[in-house]
Amino acid sequence: MKIVIINGSYRKNGATACILNEMYQQLKEYSNVEVQMIHAADLELKYCSGCSICYKTGECIYKDDLENVSLKMGNADGVIIGSPTYASNVSGQMKVIIDRGHFVMEQLLYGKYAISVATYENYGGKDCAKVLNKLLSYSGAMISKTITVRNRFNVNPLEDARLREKIQKAVTRFYGDIAGQRKYILQKIKHFIIFHLGIRPFVLRKGSQYDGVIRHWRKRNIIGG
Ligand SMILES: Cc1cc2nc3c(=O)[nH]c(=O)nc-3n(C[C@H](O)[C@H](O)[C@H](O)COP(=O)(O)O)c2cc1C
Repeated sequence: MKIVIINGSYRKNGATACILNEMYQQLKEYSNVEVQMIHAADLELKYCSGCSICYKTGECIYKDDLENVSLKMGNADGVIIGSPTYASNVSGQMKVIIDRGHFVMEQLLYGKYAISVATYENYGGKDCAKVLNKLLSYSGAMISKTITVRNRFNVNPLEDARLREKIQKAVTRFYGDIAGQRKYILQKIKHFIIFHLGIRPFVLRKGSQYDGVIRHWRKRNIIGG
């Protein structure tokens, strides 16, 4: 079982990282799990230039760390993404990952399970979690759990025993979901509507301009042919 964790904070020892590290440690306890932590701070990332060439070719024009991250996420069984709340949204680093990651159009997370983690200090944590969850569900993932944590700056959120318990439950559930391929019927219906009434007709209307996208769907058995 392959799991990829992404910390969207620039702070590798911040609140988001503490929570994600705890998840990492717990997942490592399972003998059949291969888990990898990626810190946005370690990545060399260019902004999306908006050229839209990836839709045609299936590849980004930039060959930086993001292509590798996308590849890892596309090959994983489960993903955990975490971000601090910045101005009631995700961090800038996480937004670049979202823009560059080929997630929604290519349905990169189709059939995978996910946990989202949003940390905040005062207000807007739910908005940040919403952005992460939209990305996950629009990309085809089933969300096992969302964890939104209000935390004082530079205080280790794991000092809160209830949070530790919540994390443990979330990880157990996430692992069980992947192992048992749990069917989240409502999420599946929601995704079916988004994909078949929204994304697919849009892409088909674009014709050969979106050949790369269609190729990715075929590779992932999202459509036949
Ligand atoms: C630029 C910036 C913007 C922020 N915006 C918000 C915000 O809108 N709402 C909030 O509650 N906290 C906000 N915060 C606080 C962080 O979300 C909070 O401290 C978070 O837990 C930090 O996570 P980290 O330690 O993993 O980086 C902001 C912090 C920074 C640096």
